[in-house]
Amino acid sequence: MDVSKPAKAVRDVVGTAAEKVADALTPDVPGAPGSAPPTVEEPTTPREPLPPKAEQGAPETRTPTGAPTGAPTTANGQQGAFLTTAQGARLRDTDHSLKAGPRGPVLLQDHHLREKITHFDHERIPERVVHARGAGAHGVFEAYGTAGGVTKAGFLAKGRTTDVFVRFSTVLGSRGSADTVRDTRGFATKFYTDEGTFDLVANNMPVFFIQDAIKFPDIIHAGKPHPDREIPQAQSAHDTFWDFVSLHTEAQHHTMWNMSDRGIPRSYRMMEGFGVHTFRLVNAAGETALVKFHWKPKLGVHSLTWEEAQLLGGVDPDFHRRDLYDAIEAGAFPEWELGLQVFPDTPEETFAGIDLLDPTKIVPEELAPVQPVGKLTLNRTPTNFFAETEQVAFHVGHLPPGIDVTNDPLLQGRLFSYVDTQLTRLGGPNFSQIPINRPHAPVNDMLRDGFHQQAVHAGVAPYRPNSLDGGNPFPAGDDDGAFVDVPVQVTQAPKVRANPVSFDDHYSQARLFWLSMSPVEKEHIVRAYTFELGKCYHQAIRERQLQCLANIDPVLCAEVATGLGLPAPEPTVPLADAAPSPALSQVGGQWPADGRTVGIVVDPRAGLDDVDEVRRAVFAAGMVPLLIAPHGGRVGDLPVQRTFATGRSVEFDVLLLAGAPAPAPDASPARDAKAGAADSATVDPRVLLLVDECWRHAKAIGAWGAGVDVLGQAWVAGTPGVVAGGSGAEVFAAVQRLLAAHRVWERFPASVA
Ligand code: HEM
Repeated sequence: MDVSKPAKAVRDVVGTAAEKVADALTPDVPGAPGSAPPTVEEPTTPREPLPPKAEQGAPETRTPTGAPTGAPTTANGQQGAFLTTAQGARLRDTDHSLKAGPRGPVLLQDHHLREKITHFDHERIPERVVHARGAGAHGVFEAYGTAGGVTKAGFLAKGRTTDVFVRFSTVLGSRGSADTVRDTRGFATKFYTDEGTFDLVANNMPVFFIQDAIKFPDIIHAGKPHPDREIPQAQSAHDTFWDFVSLHTEAQHHTMWNMSDRGIPRSYRMMEGFGVHTFRLVNAAGETALVKFHWKPKLGVHSLTWEEAQLLGGVDPDFHRRDLYDAIEAGAFPEWELGLQVFPDTPEETFAGIDLLDPTKIVPEELAPVQPVGKLTLNRTPTNFFAETEQVAFHVGHLPPGIDVTNDPLLQGRLFSYVDTQLTRLGGPNFSQIPINRPHAPVNDMLRDGFHQQAVHAGVAPYRPNSLDGGNPFPAGDDDGAFVDVPVQVTQAPKVRANPVSFDDHYSQARLFWLSMSPVEKEHIVRAYTFELGKCYHQAIRERQLQCLANIDPVLCAEVATGLGLPAPEPTVPLADAAPSPALSQVGGQWPADGRTVGIVVDPRAGLDDVDEVRRAVFAAGMVPLLIAPHGGRVGDLPVQRTFATGRSVEFDVLLLAGAPAPAPDASPARDAKAGAADSATVDPRVLLLVDECWRHAKAIGAWGAGVDVLGQAWVAGTPGVVAGGSGAEVFAAVQRLLAAHRVWERFPASVA
């Protein structure tokens, strides 16, 4: 393999970029495509492919059987300066098919035309049956060594670093659906350990809708669009979803999480992750412990408001994907701590009376603290979305020695489902040889042939026992790091289709969650249920779900019933005596604001008081400033990233007003005045809309100089979280403090106690 070529390409691009006059409008904020600014004229001098962008990573170059090649990752990409066929023959024209004369007909012998069109015709593969919409990133996991007492897994030994690939996703939507819908989020991590790949296929919620995998097709069929009209897309606000969860009431706890702010995360970077099931760990002495896996985000757990989520569905359906990639490109690498809740491995498999095999139950952190065992950092975006994010194949059965499964019936079904679906989705049995799925451990599996086989296996004896291949491969002995299934005792019992009695409690933990919320979070939950049930056509379904809410909490039920215009029913089960778990609430703390976006409105005609200084301060704080002006191009020396026409409040975590721009020529009073601008307003109505929306969404707003005047015209001056100051630096410092709490909830006293 000629590994020198990609390196040469890097040298070429660095050289060319240095010669080139800098692209006048190349933004100094993340997101620009391509690793070098384009020229206006079409390039005509042959050159090697450009290298990937600086922040992009790719699967390490391994052989299909896991051996390192030492080749740079660009060796897997396109090579050479010239256009070729798939067989490497150079081509001189790809713009015209081969014809009998310029006016045709096209000749069947045109092998280039046929190859190009045929390949294109087969570019699509089936999307995932669930979690179709997602975004992945590369990173590294560093172990603290604190898990050594409970597991022998080598990648958790002190100081060990392991490459990872993480894919975040929504569950219900199609591959092209919006990121910000109300839904559970997937948080799947592939650890490329040297003892075999470990996949932690987690969600951002710690419980699941169902207790038994046999119900998975039912819940997904209920949540997906209706089969007749195929609407609605990517959401649970419809009759079939509520029909199912109100009848199959074990879904009520997970449904409560979905209706809470956890269902509309602000960012993938601001989500917890949960392995949901209880797993069994085994240490070097062969002792076992039961555990639950948790990911804790450094930035805290934060959410969008429902109106923001809905606006973003139209304004920027890629919001979470963009946020993740922009943050990594900006150097604000997302971080999580991996933590364990550890329970004794008793025959009952319960802890504090909670059945550890029931995936609709949590163990409150106050009862079993989450103990940190390592840190995950995402530091590279994919080079090629399809090759990496689409083709990655997770499986809960990818386990290294030291981590084993339990008899949770949901987990048991998952152990079958993932490989089964990937056989179809990835077109055959050899998908573990796709670069993103290749293990970083030697593979000698006796699996042979099949579609898309990329390994070239030697020998004649892919069977055991054999003598013709010298007995290879050999079973690993006790000292060879073998995966050993923990010899758990299986109790004698009749063969039945039934659940343990402990699975019958469907309401107590939904109530625990409700009681753990702060007033503003409760209010959001009420609004979410009211919205979702309000979108159902059938009153019977609303009434049935109200009955479930009555069994959770009378206040919740009464509030939703009022919104629906229905009477609130009495509970049909005794209300559980649940102690709140403060760890479940996501408000009230202070968190870093890395990677947040700060919109700065400027008025080109009135000067740029402090704007450059504030921009620098925003960058220095690990955030991204976006200048918003009446027109594109530059304002003074500074590049404009958003105009009044292209910018919308939902992109920004904070709004700063450095001027009071008058209505621009493209402002349309007839249309834009509906944004709330009074007839007397002297400020562009779209700026007033920005302020109005940021205010409604409980975001911090700051203004200095002429910008202070905008606050008055938008009727927000003097309200909580609105800062007017003498200098940009002073105002930015104040809004930074507000941003640490994520939102200014005190602006809106909650209506639910
Ligand atoms: C605790 C419960 C569950 C969690 C946390 C979970 C999580 C996930 C995640 C994160 C993904 C996306 C993987 C990716 O990004 O490629 C996924 C995909 C999938 N899940 Fe689950 N899931 C759960 C339950 C189930 C059950 C019960 C089944 C089936 C019995 C199932 C079947 C699938 C399938 C078929 C896919 C698509 C996989 C692919 O096409 O590669 N899941 N799940």
